[in-house]
Amino acid sequence: MALSSTSGPADLNRELPPAERMTRLIQQIREADHAYYVLDAPILDDGAYDALLRELRALEAEYPDLANADSPTRRVPGEPVESFAKVSHLESLLSLGNCMTDEELARFFQRVGNLLGRAPEFHCEPKFDGLSIALVYHDGRLAVGATRGDGSLGEDVTANVRTIRSIPQTLRGRAPAVLQVRGEVIMDRTSFLSLNETLIAAGEAPKANPRNAAAGSLRQLDPRITASRPLRFFAYSAYSPDGLPVGSQAELIDALRDWGFPTSASNRHAPGADEVVAYVRQMETTRRDFPFDTDGVVVKVNALADQAELGVVGREPRWAIAYKYPPEEAYTTLKNVTVQVGRTGVLTPVAELEPIVVGGVLVSRATLHNAREIARKDLRIGDTVVVRRAGEVIPEIVAAVVERRPDTATIWQMPDTCPSCGAPIRQVDDEVAVRCSSPANLCRAQLAQGIEHFASRNCMNVEGLGPAVVEALLENELIHGPADLYRLTREQLLPLPRFAERSAEKLLANIAASRSADLGRVIDALGIPQVGHETAQVLASAFGSLDRLAAASEEQLNELEGIGPSVCASIRGYFDEATNRALVDNLLELGIGRAPLDGAAGASSDSGDRLAGASVVITGSLSRPRRYFEELIEKAGGRSADSVTSKVSYLVCGDAPGSKLEKARKLGIPVLSEAEFLELIGASERTTAGG
Ligand code: IVH
Repeated sequence: MALSSTSGPADLNRELPPAERMTRLIQQIREADHAYYVLDAPILDDGAYDALLRELRALEAEYPDLANADSPTRRVPGEPVESFAKVSHLESLLSLGNCMTDEELARFFQRVGNLLGRAPEFHCEPKFDGLSIALVYHDGRLAVGATRGDGSLGEDVTANVRTIRSIPQTLRGRAPAVLQVRGEVIMDRTSFLSLNETLIAAGEAPKANPRNAAAGSLRQLDPRITASRPLRFFAYSAYSPDGLPVGSQAELIDALRDWGFPTSASNRHAPGADEVVAYVRQMETTRRDFPFDTDGVVVKVNALADQAELGVVGREPRWAIAYKYPPEEAYTTLKNVTVQVGRTGVLTPVAELEPIVVGGVLVSRATLHNAREIARKDLRIGDTVVVRRAGEVIPEIVAAVVERRPDTATIWQMPDTCPSCGAPIRQVDDEVAVRCSSPANLCRAQLAQGIEHFASRNCMNVEGLGPAVVEALLENELIHGPADLYRLTREQLLPLPRFAERSAEKLLANIAASRSADLGRVIDALGIPQVGHETAQVLASAFGSLDRLAAASEEQLNELEGIGPSVCASIRGYFDEATNRALVDNLLELGIGRAPLDGAAGASSDSGDRLAGASVVITGSLSRPRRYFEELIEKAGGRSADSVTSKVSYLVCGDAPGSKLEKARKLGIPVLSEAEFLELIGASERTTAGG
């Protein structure tokens, strides 16, 4: 489905009086949140969403007395607190009995069958591995958000909970006047990995797993920190003192969804025990495809009347059980510890392991984070160690098996010089990490890592530029930094190992195509310490171009939501360094990271060289006459050609393409759709919004 782009919906509001405009904006933002978080079918792109939020915020500043107490702008974090107040839950947050085998599960079926005198129906759900919270709504408005605590008394984290965009501040439809919703706050594995990168770059201790990251992020005294962490929420149970308007767990899940809560798409009604067992088997593999961790499934008796009849013993309901999958662990030998130098110069010890299969994957290395971690776990070279893999997360060493430690086991020590450039190592004040003291451009390892990061899939996405190629390019002095990639020629690549005509052409085409990467990717690609994917997106939408970002003062940066003072200082520090400025200037010259075009048909003058020196061929039918696109190509500084040869830079491909497409593919020439082409020349926004 096509997403609405910037300016569209907001414009409609302009003619309304302020109060109505604000109401309408709030409605539009809520609809967009609901579509994104609950329906999983976004209706607005990030730019359009931000525009609505900005307009609402401006109106609220102008007319503070009209501001709505639960406006989506209130997701803006409040002030830090000294400690969390205690809140007592409306209904105790029960825990669950566990089982790990089919026999134990069968005993659960038998138990509930005996107690009820018949076989009940069940409801099966993934067991999210996060932090359980309770949300209380009064008359459909979020009043309190609390952690589980001891089950009766939790911590009041309302201010933090309000910053989680998938948690509705106002319920949809008709919900009970007082409602307590229970669910799990989680963090996706990729977000967890980038959070850890950011933490390590800032010299802080990394989180052990996504669950700890989610819990740590929610239990922050400063809600601005919570706001900067990408947390998600899934609802799975509810309580109302007036009773719930549903008869079963399956209906409750539907109701929660109707009220505006995200619920799992993998929940299933199971008419009997066989279906439950099939679900448990299937989920064992399906769960690996989830972007977040689950540690089992939860089986619940479906009918609420049956649940009431079965009751609770101690803190565990008799009507539900958690089937836990075994953690993916294995034993192996720690053969050695090597040191990797990251792009910011941080030295990370890496465990070299006797290769072993863990959770279906062959593991031969694991990160050890830092020297303190090794000391804390008392790991020695030669030890037998427990290795664990959770989903896609990098394997970790849980512990050493001290009883099996050989006499020859040795204690590892961090070297005092950089293994790559030989410069002394320095310990930065109050950082756990140690760093190479060379600037990035003088240490080969830092440089190589920086270039690999630049080209990586989430950044400029240059396929074919892995570690070995980067190493060869540096070794042969063909590049000295990321911008040099764009000056590489076929002749330079051909003599390198692993390169032939086709692979050289292909790499050059991939590098050329990366010039159209959107600004968020470009900012991420720079590798500014403490700036990960999410922060890069925020910076891109706030500044619109690399030069504007590079010129931003720390004060301007500090005004941005979800970006803390230490990140702002790091950004400013990055652009104050001459080598970094030179890289930025180089990229801008290449047309990378510039502001998108605006103006009427055709490229405006400041964009005149996005296609400088490029020749472009068109095939198939496009949305407008070919002549129109030829003009765009020329105005962007390119040349339009008729036939596909190895000199052609891009093929723009419309419907029903001819033999040119085949030929371009053979030659490894980048093929662009009409939309990709418009994006490349910076004309995409104008076209989507206007015509
Ligand atoms: S139901 C009385 N459903 O697992 C019912 N819990 O080991 C109580 N959890 O504390 C919980 N996914 O934090 C339920 N689909 C799910 C769940 C779930 C994860 C957590 C929850 C609970 C823990 C118990």
